[in-house]
Amino acid sequence: MLTVALPKGRIAKETLEIFETIFGDSFKFDDRKLILDTPNFRFLLVRNQDVATYVYHQAADIGVVGLDTLEEQGLDVMRLLDLKRGICKVSIGMRNGEKLDLNKPDLKVASKMVNITKRYFEERAVSVDIIKLYGSIELAPIIGLADMIVDVVETGATMKQNGLEVVQDIMTSSTYLIANKNSYIAKKDEVLDIYEKINKIIKAEQNS
Ligand code: PRP
Repeated sequence: MLTVALPKGRIAKETLEIFETIFGDSFKFDDRKLILDTPNFRFLLVRNQDVATYVYHQAADIGVVGLDTLEEQGLDVMRLLDLKRGICKVSIGMRNGEKLDLNKPDLKVASKMVNITKRYFEERAVSVDIIKLYGSIELAPIIGLADMIVDVVETGATMKQNGLEVVQDIMTSSTYLIANKNSYIAKKDEVLDIYEKINKIIKAEQNS
């Protein structure tokens, strides 16, 4: 029996489709239920930001989560497979027409991804003031809370509709299958079996 942490929100739909392709139409959570038991798997529906935490603490053996979230959280879990879904970028956005000038003093950067932001600027030896927000990041430069944002960009619509544009990409992200390190050893056959089934689907998609 494997416990699988699946994310609600942004990447939930694509993830559920993979498991539905493998296990058939019966893969559905009832209404508000957060646990789905099947003969070989227990699925947990958790917040995207909590997937790696469940896996790290072995409350789930495996999980599905965006690389951006993994990089931000830095938890010690195994990255088994790129699911080639949920593709987005983490980028720096500024007001339309503004240029990124890292020499400007007292730069303020708003983000919900403070660790990725911190690393980016530290690697460039630029001292910035990072303002942690939990959502609606695009508001910050418009109302003068920050000079720029570091945020997830998928279609670019949110930035565009709020008068912002990407001035620099930091990383590309996609959804990953992850595993707890102990589960990977203790339940290796089961973990590799689901890995291979998912990998087969991903490869078939890429060849079609
Ligand atoms: C992300 C991000 C942007 C938006 C970008 O938020 O913070 O606001 O998506 O997407 P777009 O480029 O397609 O417009 P998300 O929807 O993940 O919500 P969250 O703030 O709850 O993480």
